[in-house]
Amino acid sequence: MMNMNEIQDRFGQLRQEGTEIRLFDRLDSTNSEAKRAALSEHPAHPVLFVADEQTAGRGRCGNAFDSAKGGAYFSLLLPVENIPASVPVTCMASVAVYRAIDSLFGIKTGIKWVNDLFLSGKKVCGILAEGVNATGDDRYVIVGIGINLSDREFPETLREIAGSLGVDASRRDELIASVVQTLFVLMRGGDWLGDYRARSIVLGRDVRFWDGASEAFGRAVGIDADGGLEVLLPSGGRVILRSGEIHLRTV
Ligand code: BTN
Repeated sequence: MMNMNEIQDRFGQLRQEGTEIRLFDRLDSTNSEAKRAALSEHPAHPVLFVADEQTAGRGRCGNAFDSAKGGAYFSLLLPVENIPASVPVTCMASVAVYRAIDSLFGIKTGIKWVNDLFLSGKKVCGILAEGVNATGDDRYVIVGIGINLSDREFPETLREIAGSLGVDASRRDELIASVVQTLFVLMRGGDWLGDYRARSIVLGRDVRFWDGASEAFGRAVGIDADGGLEVLLPSGGRVILRSGEIHLRTV
């Protein structure tokens, strides 16, 4: 862990507003560390975990998340009373990341439903939100975010799909602070839906998804007020997807 003065400088405003910051050179996973802290410490305030690299970064659907140095890997542990019920935190988080990247680097990423960020056809950010039930009434949401900052070689299996922003990784903490501050603003009622729709790379596209029993196809035609994806089926029917993974169909 780094010394407190350094942390204070980089995350000054967040700390003043009551978020505790914990920086690590290396962790298995910032989400796992946040979960351990929730279960053993029961913090009553938000805690932000940041690691230079992760040895067992986790993605959605049980996937691994490649987390070599040169990225921003962080998890925000939120006591659940800080979050209005049924708020689509992951959609808000993707908008917070989009805005922070835009304002710091002038780079406009696209959002692939639910919450992946893409640049030039490659994924540059993934988000994993998890709930934790500690003992008693303590409940938490963990919002884990991984952003690929500087250009680097990805493992062979990821080369076609993963990309980086191509920015100076020394601005990592500035970016993280901006993401978290923006997320807090959105959770207090700021508008997220406008950007969530406007930056969508899915609307108007043909998509493939798992409907619970088999693979299904349709055209993404809308995003509702809760972040659900409205899909027009070949039969003329419509479904609203609330979670899960979609794949963009290419011709
Ligand atoms: C995904 O793309 O499926 C989600 C990836 C989420 C990765 C971030 S990196 C920080 C935090 N710690 C983890 O182990 N995962 C999230």
